[in-house]
Amino acid sequence: MKPFYITTAIDYVNGSPHLGHAYEKVLTDVIARFRRQMGDRVHFLTGVDEHGQKVQKSAKARGITPQAYADEVSAEFRALLPKLNISNNDFIRTTEERHKKVVRQVLQQLHDQGEIYQAEYQGFYSGRQEQFLQDKDRNPDGSWPEIYGEVTEITETNYFFKLRGYQQWLVDFLTQNENFIFPRFRQKQVLEFLKEPLNDLCISRPRERLEWGIPLPFDAGYVTYVWFDALLNYYSAVADQPGLWPAAWHVIGKDILVPPHAVYWPIMLHAAKLPLPHGLLVHGWWLQGGAKMSKSTGNALNPLDLIAEFGADAFRYFVIREMNVGQDSDFTREQFLVRYNSELANNLGNLVNRTLNMTTRFGAGAIPVAGAPAEAEQELQALWTRTRDEVLPLCEGFQFHSAIERTMGFITATNAYIERRAPWKLGKSSEPADQELLRTSLATMAESLRLGVALLQAVMPAAADRINSVLGYRPGPSWMNELTWDGRLAGCKVAEALVLFPRPQPAAKAPAKP
Ligand code: ME8
Ligand code: MG
Repeated sequence: MKPFYITTAIDYVNGSPHLGHAYEKVLTDVIARFRRQMGDRVHFLTGVDEHGQKVQKSAKARGITPQAYADEVSAEFRALLPKLNISNNDFIRTTEERHKKVVRQVLQQLHDQGEIYQAEYQGFYSGRQEQFLQDKDRNPDGSWPEIYGEVTEITETNYFFKLRGYQQWLVDFLTQNENFIFPRFRQKQVLEFLKEPLNDLCISRPRERLEWGIPLPFDAGYVTYVWFDALLNYYSAVADQPGLWPAAWHVIGKDILVPPHAVYWPIMLHAAKLPLPHGLLVHGWWLQGGAKMSKSTGNALNPLDLIAEFGADAFRYFVIREMNVGQDSDFTREQFLVRYNSELANNLGNLVNRTLNMTTRFGAGAIPVAGAPAEAEQELQALWTRTRDEVLPLCEGFQFHSAIERTMGFITATNAYIERRAPWKLGKSSEPADQELLRTSLATMAESLRLGVALLQAVMPAAADRINSVLGYRPGPSWMNELTWDGRLAGCKVAEALVLFPRPQPAAKAPAKP
């Protein structure tokens, strides 16, 4: 089996998880589930980024040790995963020994190779982004963009990693590997960034200023810069698992592409003589009223509230359907409700209920054998073939929003087919031809539902399982074998009803005036 290793960014534990974090987990999970369905040997890693100034500061504000603070918030991030139905194989914390060991090894190796030197550092630092800034990062009026939060100037002796020497190598690599970063326009932005000379990377903090980090193996007076530490999680988590590195895809948000993932990370690996990952998948931001949702600005939505109200499947469906991977998207409850009602409750929910209800009423609860397909059936089958053949490449190219749109178009067409055949009318006739057509229409709607659900499986795994189960059907081990239109449902005993997407409770109305 082909190995496919996929990772999310590891979240800072300086505040509770929000919708942006939940989205990244769901997107990565949909890819992981899709690749498993396609037969790959998937390894899915997620985790938390526990060191650094930002975490030390949050712990201090709470009056507890950074470790106690990290334990608490990490548990919160971890608890979100089952709530979102995330199928990760591993969860890494950067305070774990398996990780710290690899960070020390890589640092020591680079030091031995002469890639690390000591010098005086003077410059600007954003605590919020845990990132060094240069004058070119300023706004035209000289101020710092809001995303950096508070920016401080520091002067101190530190250790530096020789990034600059690898600039041309990186430009050549990106020029030769056009698909390293998805979407492609991001790759162009990185090349644009690389037109300016790179500075060497400051990879240490004196312990008097920052204690919460991994001590440098060659100088205990310093801890490791948090990004140098964090990026290595992708490798440290699988260093002892043969075959996984470098079969990796890193799913990240656009704020951490340049410079950490597109510049530091490839250069760190190359300098350490390790192979580069397959690629970076860069998603956009969830916005609230046009501004990035974030822990630091406090405009973030708690995904747990939406899950409690609508269920994990509806949440997953919405974020994947709404967001074109790579773009930004504004989150509004109105838009959530529109999709929930029209696409899930009405379109899909309706097809499920009609299929169960009519099979119960007109088929004695068992899916009949279909007769020869007439024009209406042939059209629907042809649409199925087209849908499937479009959806698979869309998913392979991370275009899940379009894949769902096509799939829901097929569900809509199936509902239209039912209107056209009107089994409730056929059920009243005792003509053999009508009875035959009735059996055909019941078998056709059930088969169509089974197939549509197979395409939704990665996005709504729990709903897909429930629908298969009320159809009295258990899919086989090979997902690809599920995608052909045939008569495999004949004889399956269906349940009478299933409420999958209940109508949300309307907000309490003010009492009517007497
Ligand atoms: O950056 N919409 O952690 P983080 C979409 N620890 N995605 C969002 C988002 C939003 N509004 N807000 C954040 C870090 N994210 C580092 C990563 S990786 C070796 C270290 C995404 O908690 C963000 O883009 O600030 C990133 O991919 C992830 O959530 C974690 O962000
Ligand atoms: Mg952030």
